[in-house]
Amino acid sequence: MNDLTNPTKNGYAINGNLAEELVDYETTIQENINARLTDRFSKLRLAANNTKPSLSILGLGYVGAVSSACFSDLGFNVIGVDPDIDKIDCINNGKSPIVEKDLDKLLKAGREDNMIQATYDTVAAILNTEVTLVSVGTPSDADGGCDLKYLRQACAQIGEALRLKSTYHLIVMRSTIPPGTTRDVLLPIIEEYSGKERGKDFGVCFNPEFLRESTAVEDFYHPPITVLGAIDERSLEFSRKLYEDVDAEIIGTSLEAAEFVKYVDNTWHALKVTFGNEVGRLCKAANVDSHDVMNIFLKDTKLNISPYYLKPGFAYGGSCLPKDTRGISHLARSLNVDLPVINNIPASNESHIEHAMDMIGDLDVKTVGLVGITFKAGTDDLRESPAIELMKRLLIKGYKVKFYDPCITPVSFLDKDPQWNERLQACCLASADELNAESELLVVTHSQPYATQVVEDATDDMHVIDVVRMAEGIQTEAAYQGIGW
Ligand SMILES: NC(=O)c1ccc[n+]([C@@H]2O[C@H](COP(=O)([O-])OP(=O)(O)OC[C@H]3O[C@@H](n4cnc5c(N)ncnc54)[C@H](O)[C@@H]3O)[C@@H](O)[C@H]2O)c1
Repeated sequence: MNDLTNPTKNGYAINGNLAEELVDYETTIQENINARLTDRFSKLRLAANNTKPSLSILGLGYVGAVSSACFSDLGFNVIGVDPDIDKIDCINNGKSPIVEKDLDKLLKAGREDNMIQATYDTVAAILNTEVTLVSVGTPSDADGGCDLKYLRQACAQIGEALRLKSTYHLIVMRSTIPPGTTRDVLLPIIEEYSGKERGKDFGVCFNPEFLRESTAVEDFYHPPITVLGAIDERSLEFSRKLYEDVDAEIIGTSLEAAEFVKYVDNTWHALKVTFGNEVGRLCKAANVDSHDVMNIFLKDTKLNISPYYLKPGFAYGGSCLPKDTRGISHLARSLNVDLPVINNIPASNESHIEHAMDMIGDLDVKTVGLVGITFKAGTDDLRESPAIELMKRLLIKGYKVKFYDPCITPVSFLDKDPQWNERLQACCLASADELNAESELLVVTHSQPYATQVVEDATDDMHVIDVVRMAEGIQTEAAYQGIGW
């Protein structure tokens, strides 16, 4: 007979240990079920009574499909829009229209939880949402420019929808476009078709997308940064709500900076790839393991993989960079290796000095004062200084040139050619004050307190060309311009 005093399951007697394990097991299952139900109910409650703004996403390609799935997973009600019926069907069936890790899973959950739907009806989608994200394609056109055909169409459709809408709507541009496109091309289309006014009736942001295909879902939740270029404070604050649960610093900026940073990012990435590949070809020809070299190169996070050397300024000079870039090209030639990027570095540097000459040539001045002539501040090294090169070109063109540099005196050795040495020495002034008296134009090559003083003392009939981005907030009566800003 069974001992009914023992713990039992379904009337069967079991031993004490097993009974406890079974109870534990059942409790765990029940807890899991409860957790899932709670999660599902909370999502359904969210869908019914969602405090997060609802989103329409125009364009369900690589960017739009991932954003739709991930935003819905974060608790936003999403309506995706695309003219491609296959993509719409995929999403409405909880399937991914593209190959991308975890996307099927998220879209299936989004559909089950009623957080996401797809349609071709742009107007209905916009009328039923508070924010519209635009991620339609911007392919290259025949001459390499950015083809805005799909974006123009999308903006006309947005305008038509906004014409019917009485409440404020936020538009977030995500497609990659050249700077100025949103403000100068797209906003006028939306205003024309809607009859509404930017800032008052609708807000606008540019929010570049940083995902990488194949890791797009992971990148969505952990982007390097989130950039929000906005036309006004209201648009910026509204767009922040989209990224409250995303793990990244939010950087608010202008529309144009947000548009441009994506171009700059991708160009930088392409430059990194081509540089690495050129180093690889050269290393192989020189019988050196390129991965050994680059692994060491990458360990230098002070000068190599760092912000150093990347802010726009003047041409490089000094005793090392010009000499060693020439040297590596010479080595490549001797090994018959073609290095288009590395070989063109000196030409790019040279074009920057010529650009300074063009800026000076555009001004109606005959006397130029150089504030600093060593290749950088804090050294007396003049080897291959771009400021000396600039001074020589100005003298050859007939300008009257003077300079002041605290590390240089009128008897300093300035050029290995005796005639140039004498001519350059004659340009040296003993004090910074004298520069203002003798110059219609100041060209500032050092960001130092002595240089700031000269520029602050400049009068309103003078010009300043800054090639080093002097300290922010500098006050001067002179007409100021920067070489790359
Ligand atoms: N793919 C990437 O990894 C990536 C990363 C960052 C940024 N971007 C940029 O994002 C944008 C989109 O890229 P993608 O790769 O997703 O493009 P894609 O070509 O895969 O998708 C674009 C989608 O937009 C749809 N579309 C066209 N006109 C439309 C309209 N009026 N309304 C709604 N949908 C419309 C198309 O049918 C297509 O499905 C591009 O500007 C691209 O440069 C792409």
